[in-house]
Amino acid sequence: MEELEFRIRRLTRKDIDAAQSLAQNVWGDQAKRDTGMNIAYPKRLRRMFEGYLHADPRGSFLATIEGKAIGASYGHKWGRVGWIGPIEVSTEYQKHGVGTLLAHATVDHLETVGCDTIGVETMGDSEGHVEFYRRIGFSVHSPTFFYEKRLESDPGLSGETILLPFTSYETILNRAKELSERISPGLDLSVEFWMSYVANLGRILVYQDPNDPEKLLGASVVYGRTMEGVDTHLLRLLIVDPDHDDQQRVANALLQDSEFLVRRMGGRRMFFSCPATATSVSLLAERGYRVIGNNVRMTRGAKYAERGEMQIISWAG
Ligand SMILES: CC(C)(COP(=O)(O)OP(=O)(O)OC[C@H]1O[C@@H](n2cnc3c(N)ncnc32)[C@H](O)[C@@H]1OP(=O)(O)O)[C@@H](O)C(=O)NCCC(=O)NCCS
Repeated sequence: MEELEFRIRRLTRKDIDAAQSLAQNVWGDQAKRDTGMNIAYPKRLRRMFEGYLHADPRGSFLATIEGKAIGASYGHKWGRVGWIGPIEVSTEYQKHGVGTLLAHATVDHLETVGCDTIGVETMGDSEGHVEFYRRIGFSVHSPTFFYEKRLESDPGLSGETILLPFTSYETILNRAKELSERISPGLDLSVEFWMSYVANLGRILVYQDPNDPEKLLGASVVYGRTMEGVDTHLLRLLIVDPDHDDQQRVANALLQDSEFLVRRMGGRRMFFSCPATATSVSLLAERGYRVIGNNVRMTRGAKYAERGEMQIISWAG
């Protein structure tokens, strides 16, 4: 194999244009390989990259050859849990070790900043992808599924959640941290809540305990568009108190109101990825979601498990 002279360095705001084009080309080529068709793959929005850098200015990496961007990877720290995604290498430079070094740089960074579990979600049906992460020390954890729903008509509001105003997002951070800790020790999702408002990525819905407004029974983060010209919106996360006695009700209300928000933001489909539980499978089928793909969650380091009947917490970038 021909030796390539590339270098890996931290990705900065100045690299966003190059990283955007790189992502568009890599995923366009991948879609062509998967379908045999030339697909005009949409551009990931600039604010997504800005959000990553906002949350962790040192967590993203770029591979270059003579200054030209040929690969990138993005690391995310959720307390003591970290994850990598996406990771992408220009088609013409794949299989020369660039992806491996990018992944190592990202893992090293996440370990240095205190993550003891590191996760990734990749194509479960691609032995090549699973093998790629296996060689970097990851092992298969569990399958996850991509769900999508076409939002034909206005679902109406459940009346059980509130849309958190921009001015008071700080009020949720400690409560989100405390709730994540109960879902998985060491997990801290407050950065996602913070990022969605500070980097203008999405909106937050809150389900409070009717008997104790200080107590959070659940919350969701609904992103606006993540790709140019695409009317499918991402439900970034949805979490429910794992000790509550009617978790299905909380999840259902958050889903319904997230769908409402997506429609109000101009979206016509909502999608997300999550593991399968008895509740998620039945609730999502009842609400008209269909499975459009599957991934596999892989981890390295400390054991990771989530408590609760339905948590939409995805490591897919
Ligand atoms: C996956 C990806 C990041 C790997 O980067 P890379 O620079 O090609 O990887 P490396 O050269 O370091 O490692 C190559 C090894 O990865 C595995 N691999 C990676 N992609 C593969 C593919 N599409 N088919 C088969 N094997 C693959 C193989 O084990 C390969 O080993 P080999 O060369 O002995 O066959 C790159 O192929 C890519 O950007 N793909 C498109 C986007 C993507 O799928 N990203 C990952 C999403 S989780």
